Amino acid sequence: MKPIYIPEPFRIKSVEPLKLLTRKEREEKIAAANYNVFSLAASDVYIDLLTDSGTGAMSTAQWAGVMVGDESYAGAESYYKLQISAQEVFSMPYIQIVHQGRAAEKVLLPILLEGKKYAIANMHFDTTRAHVELAGARAIDCVVPEALDTSAYFDFKGNMDCEKLESLIHELGAENVGVVIMTITNNSAGGQPVSVENIRKTAEIAHKYQIPFMIDAARCAENAYFIQQREAGYRDLSIEKILHLCFENADCFTMSAKKDAIVNMGGLIGCRDKKLFEAIKQRTISFEGFVTYGGMSGRDIEALAIGLKEGIDENFLRYRIGQMEYLAARLDEAGIPYQSPVGGHAVFVDAKKLLPHIPYYQFPAQALAVELYLEAGIRACDIGSFLLGNDPASPSPAASTRSPISTSSPTPSATSRNAPPRSRATRSWKSPRSSATLRPNSAP
Ligand SMILES: Cc1ncc(COP(=O)(O)O)c(C=O)c1O
Repeated sequence: MKPIYIPEPFRIKSVEPLKLLTRKEREEKIAAANYNVFSLAASDVYIDLLTDSGTGAMSTAQWAGVMVGDESYAGAESYYKLQISAQEVFSMPYIQIVHQGRAAEKVLLPILLEGKKYAIANMHFDTTRAHVELAGARAIDCVVPEALDTSAYFDFKGNMDCEKLESLIHELGAENVGVVIMTITNNSAGGQPVSVENIRKTAEIAHKYQIPFMIDAARCAENAYFIQQREAGYRDLSIEKILHLCFENADCFTMSAKKDAIVNMGGLIGCRDKKLFEAIKQRTISFEGFVTYGGMSGRDIEALAIGLKEGIDENFLRYRIGQMEYLAARLDEAGIPYQSPVGGHAVFVDAKKLLPHIPYYQFPAQALAVELYLEAGIRACDIGSFLLGNDPASPSPAASTRSPISTSSPTPSATSRNAPPRSRATRSWKSPRSSATLRPNSAP
């Protein structure tokens, strides 16, 4: 059935004007930016799909919260509100505020990886990978093979390959693996969801070998919505209940709150173990600030406490995922290949398939992002050979989903990610005019 456009479950009270440059102006701007879309001034972009991170529009309740935010250095009222809100959403006893997701990784991962050699994840986001490597360990991806075929239908393409996980643990030695990580949704695989069954199985394997199991929760609300819609037995459960069923398996989590908690800045760490929490607090004080503000202003903590709850609203999530389905259907009409079924926060166009004449190591997804800007003033970004950089074990650029371990059979992916901000984009951002600009030029 063709997806219909689900009307926005909100009214817009304030607008930000946009300008559209001419083609010639865009050619000049992208050349001046050395063909790096991250170096463009945002004011030179018409439709900004670079990321959904920190770019969402806050609600009236959150803006009202900004006004009552408590800026006390220690023990601010906003801090206690956040504790309650996060404990309710994640059902996890110990919560630490930090300023964003990578700060959470910087605080937590070196504790878990001390004296260890490996972290294994369904897929590491690039900052997670970086913090694993900064802690002196190797980051190994272990996603299900279905994730690598953008045209194959599979309900939970973000899942961990559990069989491979267990054989990797044997191969590497359980004593060398510091953490098993589940990224929900799996950003690098295209915002693809992970099932409760897979989370449980993965946790079981990790715990069998006394390895901590961590969730990267950046888009856990979107993931819970997919579970509700696709996994047998969850249709009648609330998003909050599904989150509890996911997080009850985890020893700890990190979260970039800039996604599903719909704030412009913020991050969280959660854990169950008091001793681990003490270590987290110590490192937070060194890197982020005192434990009750963790690098955040009180007003932002207040907005986060509210956003955590608003982000799990089912109507909002239906609209949010519906946006992606609508945009994906426009691409289907134009014959554009993408990671399908479409994920939660973005449409990942398969640049390798769309531009087969550009070799993987000449960055097809980056080339596509530049062309999109030239053609229509749209800013997307590469999630592929350009983003990943070099494999630390070899001089060649890293392959997406690569694993340095002999049992792997890496199949590089190169996608161009189009990620609409939450509550900010309206229908015209996904109109045929926008998607028509994605039509391939008769590639050889
Ligand atoms: C899955 C995932 N984990 C971690 C991060 C890092 O979060 P932040 O950008 O808040 O540092 C991101 C950011 O996009 C992400 O998508």
